[in-house]
Amino acid sequence: MLKKTKVAVMVSGGGTNLQAIIDAQKSGIITSGEIALVVSNKADAYALQRAADNGIATYVMTSEEVLIEKLQSEGIELVVLAGFLKILSPAFTRAFENRIINIHPSLIPSFCGKGAYGLHVHEMALEYGVKVTGATVHFVNEIPDGGAIIYQKAVDILDGDTPEVLQKRVMEQAEWVLLPRAVEEISAKIGRGEL
Ligand code: GRF
Repeated sequence: MLKKTKVAVMVSGGGTNLQAIIDAQKSGIITSGEIALVVSNKADAYALQRAADNGIATYVMTSEEVLIEKLQSEGIELVVLAGFLKILSPAFTRAFENRIINIHPSLIPSFCGKGAYGLHVHEMALEYGVKVTGATVHFVNEIPDGGAIIYQKAVDILDGDTPEVLQKRVMEQAEWVLLPRAVEEISAKIGRGEL
């Protein structure tokens, strides 16, 4: 049995993407990695409660410099940004090169980059009038939403969609499917020494 890849999930809000990863571990969709730590830049993020409810260690970050040391001392091999709303410094992305993945709620390169996060992304899509949107899992580098794309999944926009209704559909049909799949695939590759 290959050693499981140690995963840290970084969150800032409700943690529905974290929950999807936790549930995928329980259901056997994720077998090559295990969430060893949940990190937030917000002490009151409900995602931290979800971690605690599932016996997962949590950590509220102060400086990125200290966080890098903590992740390295914990032997973290994969960092998953799941609704994490802080732009990471080049020092952080260099410390974990090709070891950070992010879920973005659009089909990159549409509706991404500076200021495109959370509900704003869906407001932008509705404003533009696109008929299809979706979600993207990508590697993280020093360019916001700039790393290599791993998975994408399209989601229809329906007449009368509000940003909130659209966000929920994109989460249910795309984000919560793609992120666990990517955690399993990348964890397995790291475990096999392929990454
Ligand atoms: C979601 O819109 C997700 O696409 C984005 O952050 C928002 C909150 O995610 N990455 P979560 O419920 O905290 O996982």
